[in-house]
Amino acid sequence: MNKFILKGNIIYSKNENEINFYEASYLVVKDGKSQGVYNRIPEEFINYEIIDFEDKIIMPGLVDLHIHAPQYNFRGMGLDLELLDWLNTYTFKAEAKFKDLSYAKRSYKRFVDYIRRGPNTRFAIFATLHLDPTIILMDMMEESGLVSFIGKVNMDRNGGAELEEKDADESIKTTISWLDKIKGKYKNTYPIITPRFIPSCSDELLNKLRKVKNEYKLPIQSHLSENLGEIDWVKDLVPKSDFYGEAYELFDLFGKENKTIMAHCVYSNDKEQKLMKDNGVFIAHCPDSNTNLTSGIAPAGKYLRNGQKIGLGSDIAGGVHSSIFKAMADAIKVSKLRYRLVDESIKPLSIEEAFYMATLGGGEFFGKVGSFEKDYEFDAIVIDDSYLLEEDELTLRQRLERIIYISEDRDVVSKFVRGERLF
Ligand code: GUN
Ligand code: FE
Repeated sequence: MNKFILKGNIIYSKNENEINFYEASYLVVKDGKSQGVYNRIPEEFINYEIIDFEDKIIMPGLVDLHIHAPQYNFRGMGLDLELLDWLNTYTFKAEAKFKDLSYAKRSYKRFVDYIRRGPNTRFAIFATLHLDPTIILMDMMEESGLVSFIGKVNMDRNGGAELEEKDADESIKTTISWLDKIKGKYKNTYPIITPRFIPSCSDELLNKLRKVKNEYKLPIQSHLSENLGEIDWVKDLVPKSDFYGEAYELFDLFGKENKTIMAHCVYSNDKEQKLMKDNGVFIAHCPDSNTNLTSGIAPAGKYLRNGQKIGLGSDIAGGVHSSIFKAMADAIKVSKLRYRLVDESIKPLSIEEAFYMATLGGGEFFGKVGSFEKDYEFDAIVIDDSYLLEEDELTLRQRLERIIYISEDRDVVSKFVRGERLF
């Protein structure tokens, strides 16, 4: 039975507007779950082993709600293009290479080593349309100790000669054999239905994916309202839909009993926002990607304050860093520009709001994740920010702000996932 106590400065989100700060306190863990934070060790835990992290900061592991594993290799390239040109010029070519199993192994190993080292503990990941390479990625993620949803991507149109499944039947056949091959194989790695986006998936494919997700009771991830050219194209492709989100809704691939993540939502109109809210769809806000690909600025503050489910995504390789600390800083920065230049009715995101999205907001997709309240799954990172302290006395809130803006992966000196210590 694993039980222990971490000692240090403990920080976690209370709600969208408040953060709990506990100096020199004790965080009790039993069987992979938090038992709460205390300023003195309660009698019942007195014989637990104590790991003393001294003046370091302990906070929940961060959640990346949207990342493309095969895009790790070409980060920082082609970002002078907008979405559709970037996909056709760089992304689809890069993903097509994963057909080669030994290339996939080498590449995914580098990807997994990279994200294991950083501050994130949970991930919703797009693989490629290839079956065995997707299983290799799942094996490696399981081995890493991190927790993830991973999707074999479905795409039966507009991928060009290199990255397209022959037809809907072939796409579904591959998806089912993928699901059957991994059944019961993992503890921390879960499949997720992943139609790439509407332009990649025929009506027939979406209709058949609906049946698969019902039969296997699976969550769903995709892209939504990211780029203006993309949105116009979706109108042509699915003329029955009144707005982009409705194109997924027509095929019952938009939340409700199947948890769903939609990445970007830069241009979601009122009807789309309402449907996302009614259906409990999670928004993955990806500010770095939305900037790099000149997509726009999603009104994340509005979504959050309206009670939408929302977390942050790195969207590698639209975004270039996996660290969700960087996504928090980027989210705050672009919200300030949006406020100043576009719409003064939506106040910039606060530190509290960004921290909430990075932990509890995204964590909810995984269950009781993203907090140290009792019974939450215990994911934690320990940050050594001593080099940022110098002579000054800083409050824990000031230290958190500096970590969000300045910290590097190497400052994560220890990491726990579901109660297991990774390093
Ligand atoms: N829309 C469809 N595919 C992609 C992708 O790989 N990245 C981003 N940012 N948007 C997409
Ligand atoms: Fe994406």
